[in-house]
Amino acid sequence: MTKIAIIIGSTRPGRSGEAVARWVHDIATKRQDAEFELVDLKNFGLPHLDEVMPAAMGQYSHPHTRAWAETIDSFDGYVFVTPEYNHSTSGALKNAIDFLYAEWNNKAAGFVSYGSAGGTRAVEHLRLVMGELQVADVRAQVALSLFTDFEHFSVLNPAAHQEDAVTAMLDQVVAWGEALQPLRQ
Ligand SMILES: Cc1cc2nc3c(=O)[nH]c(=O)nc-3n(C[C@H](O)[C@H](O)[C@H](O)COP(=O)(O)O)c2cc1C
Repeated sequence: MTKIAIIIGSTRPGRSGEAVARWVHDIATKRQDAEFELVDLKNFGLPHLDEVMPAAMGQYSHPHTRAWAETIDSFDGYVFVTPEYNHSTSGALKNAIDFLYAEWNNKAAGFVSYGSAGGTRAVEHLRLVMGELQVADVRAQVALSLFTDFEHFSVLNPAAHQEDAVTAMLDQVVAWGEALQPLRQ
């Protein structure tokens, strides 16, 4: 069965990211075509990148890197749930991405972002990063507005159409995650 990780890209105390990721996970788990798992960066305790060798060498010296690598390696695709910080993704998510290389290769990815402009600028940055990691990022994306999909800019209450947007994005991530399987062997 195809396995997709829903990665919580914010580690901030009081973050909205966890509620967003849980909402995506609730929608995803109604599907029969893949398994979906929440992956919370907070649980990995990654420091700022502290490996001597570049990730592409695959020589991980720290237990925290190996634990993160084992988790990411076990999935066929990813949904990155990202806030927008200063027109980009969070430093925590970029740092976690930078720790690994081969584990990301030939996988699929979709995005759920949130911010005053739907977090779309964070996703545009992430799409550049995905290219370098040989991740196939799908077109459909979910952009939650702090003005219309949250109450008081902090309590998630997504507009009805956003569930359809999640479904469209997951359709593409599952399809591409499966299609790339031969390249991962
Ligand atoms: C450091 C920082 C920078 C931010 N910059 C932006 C921004 O450039 N654009 C935007 O729409 N929202 C910005 N925001 C607002 C966040 O999108 C909003 O607070 C969101 O809830 C943060 O996600 P989190 O609660 O999961 O950490 C910023 C928030 C923080 C903490």
